[in-house]
Amino acid sequence: MAVKWCVIGAGGIADRRMIPALKSDLDNQVVALMDRKVEVAKRLGKKYGVKYYTDEETMLKETECDAVYIGTPVYRHYSQAMLALKYGRHVFIEKPLGLNAKESEEILKAFKNAGKQLTVGYMMKHHNLHERAKAMVKRGDIGAVSSIRLQFSCWYPKIDGAWRQVKSLGGGGALMDLGVHCIELAEYVLGEEIKAVKGLISKKTFDYEVEDSAVLAFKTLSGALGHIDVNFNIPDDASESKLEIYGDKGYIICKGTLGQEEKGKMLYLYSPQGDYVAAQNRTAGKPKIYYGNKGNLYLKQVKKFNSIINGGAPDYSFAEKAVAVQKIVDEIYAQNGVE
Ligand SMILES: NC(=O)c1ccc[n+]([C@@H]2O[C@H](COP(=O)([O-])OP(=O)(O)OC[C@H]3O[C@@H](n4cnc5c(N)ncnc54)[C@H](O)[C@@H]3O)[C@@H](O)[C@H]2O)c1
Repeated sequence: MAVKWCVIGAGGIADRRMIPALKSDLDNQVVALMDRKVEVAKRLGKKYGVKYYTDEETMLKETECDAVYIGTPVYRHYSQAMLALKYGRHVFIEKPLGLNAKESEEILKAFKNAGKQLTVGYMMKHHNLHERAKAMVKRGDIGAVSSIRLQFSCWYPKIDGAWRQVKSLGGGGALMDLGVHCIELAEYVLGEEIKAVKGLISKKTFDYEVEDSAVLAFKTLSGALGHIDVNFNIPDDASESKLEIYGDKGYIICKGTLGQEEKGKMLYLYSPQGDYVAAQNRTAGKPKIYYGNKGNLYLKQVKKFNSIINGGAPDYSFAEKAVAVQKIVDEIYAQNGVE
């Protein structure tokens, strides 16, 4: 039987990615959607041929469904996740889980107590090249990891009414929106936790309340060092996402793999070295190249969610990671004197 979904917040990512992913799959069925803007609710209700609402509680009361997808601005995640739980539904919530670690922990605790599934939309780990990178790191294909770097950016100028540009609505700026993906992905591909972090945030280019750029330096439990750059102030054409992992026997470099599509490529070089070469005149080996599968990352995360809810027992590992990510973000804001 197909999993029946209600959607809360039917704008941006829900309309562009999540609802089409659910609609494309026979194992899933969107039965109703809700948006606080009546024109959005009506337009998308018609577009997807489902009942639409402007009040989430009315939708949940009137609609039989197994799961709720929450794609609203971050400041609404807490109350809407708790409401869906009150009505006994499993929840798939967009990243970041809550406005801060406290909210996120409370959401997770409530779902654990109720035994309902909670998953957070960090879809980039499902990219075939990131899964491959994780497996290669685990197998020791680049030896022991020495360092990791991630870069993720876009152009996001001041827009009147944009919730991401207001601290109380989005929780923060580039760090909260883009940095969270990088932190989650770094821990995922390395298969280990970040144990220490230092970060700087800046309002360099745009005149909005939150940071338009952030840089993080971190150390993992095994002692590998990491670096993350996230920017709202680099033109889209100049933004090439990168994930680079260097080990004591080679590298894995992913280019253009961070984002909403399963695209880009990975370069893999295995080149163990014995002696120090003072002349620095070696000829570098040729990396192997792998490509993104062009699959649907959003459908992949839904399939994973479905396998958990159909399996009988919740799996909170991804949601726990999402809470850990928020703790790191909170720490960086605290280091920068931002409440
Ligand atoms: N995983 C990803 O690829 C990805 C990409 C973009 C955004 N996101 C996340 O998705 C969430 C939404 O981001 P977006 O870019 O789609 O935002 P958006 O502003 O484009 O869309 C949000 C929608 O929610 C509606 N809305 C606002 N308040 C509401 C409320 N109280 N109840 C119901 N609907 C309400 C708005 O009318 C709008 O239609 C955020 O958490 C964001 O971080 C995830």
